[in-house]
Amino acid sequence: MYDFKIDATDKAAFYDEMAKALEALVAGEPDAIANMANASALIMEQMADLNWAGFYRNVDGTLVLGPFQGRAACIRIPFDKGVCGAAAATRETQLVENVHAFPGHIACDAASRSELVVPIMKDGELFGVLDLDSPTPARFDAEDQAGCEKLVKVLEAAL
Ligand code: SME
Repeated sequence: MYDFKIDATDKAAFYDEMAKALEALVAGEPDAIANMANASALIMEQMADLNWAGFYRNVDGTLVLGPFQGRAACIRIPFDKGVCGAAAATRETQLVENVHAFPGHIACDAASRSELVVPIMKDGELFGVLDLDSPTPARFDAEDQAGCEKLVKVLEAAL
């Protein structure tokens, strides 16, 4: 049983603890689906104010839905569509304060107002993306971006 108690009050310390928890979850486990599944559960359980947390995988140049927590979501996203597609195409994190102002945003859950998408790399290629959605506008800031990029690094080391 895993029972993580992450009670840091500032974001830097919170993401340090999250990275340690994720390291413990993926330690010694090479299965990417299992690791993404536990990562999405950890994120959804510990991060406040999210309505969706999960992964899309790069399958032959299309993003295909992977393990996630939240409402049933769009299954396939081309690289030229949506926030996830932009992260995949540019291989750069997309921090979107207002999804309604993002051209081509894909509304999988009408409640989503802001979004953070971090690309995941393996052997120099795009493996997929980590996608976080919030019902609160501007839920994510630069510290969340840095923290989630750190979580992705932990996951990448296990891929
Ligand atoms: N909003 C995303 C699509 C995925 S869902 O949020 C789960 C996008 O625009 O790429």
